Amino acid sequence: MTDTVVPDGSTGRHLVLVGLMGAGKTTVGQRCAELLDRPFVDTDELVVASAGVAFDDIWSAEGEQGFRRRERVAVADATASPTPLVISCGGGIVLDSDNRRALRATGVVVLLTASSAALAARLADDDSRPLLIGNDKTATLERLSAVRQPAYEAAAHFEVDTERRSVDDVATEVVKEYRAWNG
Ligand code: S3P
Repeated sequence: MTDTVVPDGSTGRHLVLVGLMGAGKTTVGQRCAELLDRPFVDTDELVVASAGVAFDDIWSAEGEQGFRRRERVAVADATASPTPLVISCGGGIVLDSDNRRALRATGVVVLLTASSAALAARLADDDSRPLLIGNDKTATLERLSAVRQPAYEAAAHFEVDTERRSVDDVATEVVKEYRAWNG
């Protein structure tokens, strides 16, 4: 790594947020970006921007497989940024070992956690996640959590619990830990 000594937030590794849908990666990530005074990117938004069509259209035309392919490109692009970013990752990104490698090699990776019931409650009125549509949200998140836990643990440098905590509170802890890891 070729860090130079410049003001906090403009040097070092990306701050990468991973975790299940509803974990707060986007809201917490945006707050962290403010605290660190650096750009924020969300991989779902990168996928949509590069595809030039709506998220639902990608998913229905290309299926999950097509979406995951596009997600890998988004991860490669974001992690290649010479400017350190805050990167909010779609919940399934960690399933791909190349993604995990790229995120860990260029970033400090934080896993945001909460119980499946809390995640489902946050997503109660949300119908933007294809994996949850038409399914019992708590049960689906519980199942995804069990399947993905090893991948989340393999990806993350540290974890922060988000249950019953404000965005500000979580973001403050994430940034504090991030600074310790970023050196
Ligand atoms: C997914 C999570 C979503 C989005 C897509 C698939 C997943 O992002 O990428 O619906 O597989 O967990 P968020 O985690 O930001 O909701």
